[in-house]
Amino acid sequence: MHNRQAVLDYWNDPNVESMYDKYLIDAEINLIRRRLLPDSKILDAGCGEGEGSVVYAGIKGASIVAADFSDTRLAKAKERLAGLNNVSFQKVDFLDPWNLGGGFDAVVSQRFLINLMEWPLQQKVLAGLIQALSPSGRLILLEGHQKGVDELNAYRQASELEPIPVKWHNLFLDEDKLLPFMRELGCDQVDEDGLGAYFLLTRGVRPQLATELNWDCDFNRRAASPEVSDVLQLKAKFSRLKLWVFQKARAPSK
Ligand SMILES: C[S@@+](CC[C@H](N)C(=O)[O-])C[C@H]1O[C@@H](n2cnc3c(N)ncnc32)[C@H](O)[C@@H]1O
Repeated sequence: MHNRQAVLDYWNDPNVESMYDKYLIDAEINLIRRRLLPDSKILDAGCGEGEGSVVYAGIKGASIVAADFSDTRLAKAKERLAGLNNVSFQKVDFLDPWNLGGGFDAVVSQRFLINLMEWPLQQKVLAGLIQALSPSGRLILLEGHQKGVDELNAYRQASELEPIPVKWHNLFLDEDKLLPFMRELGCDQVDEDGLGAYFLLTRGVRPQLATELNWDCDFNRRAASPEVSDVLQLKAKFSRLKLWVFQKARAPSK
């Protein structure tokens, strides 16, 4: 059951750190960044502290709208992006009616939709994000992926490790529901990717070798490298996060 106030209170707590594993968030942002084109108008929906927005703002000719419903997160984002004149900040609750002018070449949702703890709410927000796209615009999702959670936990179980649960304020996406829904909205899936190598190595293998987990270590740095990912070719397998790219193709089916 979604509790909007509880989720807002959580993100308004200045002590909440959005991401403790910096190699992971950098790898996430890199997957997204590679799909963004120069001269794009980009909406970073649920931008949080702006870790992604600041990278997208560096793309040649890009203009960014960074939107979030938490004053605390927006204040941190404004601090991080201070002085950049191609970024505007908007306080938006995407569950309410919203209008940011539309015409976006790309809408990015990085670990944002998972904060909506019911599939019908995720559907409602997905439909709104699609509406905000330009006719050939792309929706880039980098979101929690339940299948990847299950695959990683199956590996952990086989290796005598406890499962890693999904946090109380998250509902990860079920691809078997997401893909048909996006087709109903008139969107084609044009790309997908994942961070399977990183998740398997850092959440499957390393806990068997070291009981103390320091996220900022050489093992994790190597596990996050594109070379390791290329060799293992796991893509979204074992990956708790998955990248999906959708393109608006036609009018939604009735
Ligand atoms: C896990 S953080 C992700 C932040 C950023 N996209 C990133 O990946 O680093 C989720 C963000 O979604 C925002 N959020 C959650 N529900 C929202 C809503 N209904 N409308 C707007 N923002 C929301 C939270 O305030 C939080 O900043």
